[in-house]
Amino acid sequence: MSIARLTNLLPAKMASQVDAYFEAVDTLAEVKDPKVLASLAPAGVRGLLLRRGKQGTPTRIQANHQAHFDWTYPHDQPGMAELYRRAKQGQWDADVVLPWGTDVDPLNPEVPLIPDSFVDFERLERFGIRLDARERMEFRFSVVAWMLSQFLHGEQGALFAAAQVTEAVQFFDGKLYGATQVMDEGRHVEVFSRYLDDKLGRLYQINDNLYVIIDALMSDGRWDMKFLGMQIMVEGLALGAFGTLYRQTREPLLRQLLKMVIQDEARHVHYGVLALREHITKEISERERQEREDWAFEVALLMRNRFMAYEVYEEWFEGRVSRETWREIITGLPGMQEFRQVMFSRLVPNLREIGLLTPRVLPHYERVGLLRYMHGASADQLSGEQLVAELERAA
Ligand SMILES: [Fe+2]
Ligand SMILES: [Fe+2]
Repeated sequence: MSIARLTNLLPAKMASQVDAYFEAVDTLAEVKDPKVLASLAPAGVRGLLLRRGKQGTPTRIQANHQAHFDWTYPHDQPGMAELYRRAKQGQWDADVVLPWGTDVDPLNPEVPLIPDSFVDFERLERFGIRLDARERMEFRFSVVAWMLSQFLHGEQGALFAAAQVTEAVQFFDGKLYGATQVMDEGRHVEVFSRYLDDKLGRLYQINDNLYVIIDALMSDGRWDMKFLGMQIMVEGLALGAFGTLYRQTREPLLRQLLKMVIQDEARHVHYGVLALREHITKEISERERQEREDWAFEVALLMRNRFMAYEVYEEWFEGRVSRETWREIITGLPGMQEFRQVMFSRLVPNLREIGLLTPRVLPHYERVGLLRYMHGASADQLSGEQLVAELERAA
């Protein structure tokens, strides 16, 4: 009997649990490299099966890295020193810069948080879901609040990862730069949290797959894996998501907030590219590089295939359609498709630039349709201002 037929016979809540279980097993079974599996599996079990991120607070994750001290204070990384200078100049105070007095009404059709076109409601009707005008507004509100909640949870992960990496990295110029990133991420937590709290009055729990990635890189003792996970993959994901929402929203406070955050994030990814390019192309063994190639590919797939917004499904449609149907619905939303495209157009050039798109793995990227982003500009070729200008043009 197929899993779909089996779950059809169960009450809705139990069917969801069975589906979630098989999906988790599936996710881990897809990982081909045994070393990558060994590093992702414990976080996978904690996030997908035990759902650690949803068991109330606090969630404790054991850190395993070493703090790297240097009493000689070398200045031998001019690229990082330059980023440090720019980061100091680019600091901003959210109390001063953002128009917090803006009146935000998430259900006001005149100033939509996301446009009607983000969700193709006609397509939803083909799955038996019919929503009236008011419900459509509320559904879009849920989707935006869910996205912003995940941004906030990701920023909390970024704040702690930036602090860990600042301790662990061997470049002294990188440590000074890292201190500015810790401040940046603290500010990002501040602004997303304040927006959700004061303006939307909502907060969704952390998505299980996002939890897995954060757990995996917080507990991995190797600084370059933290870098790869946070500075390249999660920050790349965030830049894609922020960029998509920035282009689409008409709500002025959210637009300004995202613009400021995007400019900071562009520096963070730039730093990741600088540090990892040197390390991966020159300092590690062939076998170590292969593990990182595979890890990056698996996490890219996880990000592409697994962010299914089940938290929104549980709120809206559990018991009305199956999780399997919901996956079809959510992956087909025009707004989500654009989000994936922007995300990978940012991510793939950075993987190329740090030396992880070798001929050995290129066929994998080709097979899943990601190779077309191969020749885009990487983060070290694009400043935050250029990035925002590019988003404006595309809008
Ligand atoms: Fe951030
Ligand atoms: Fe960041």
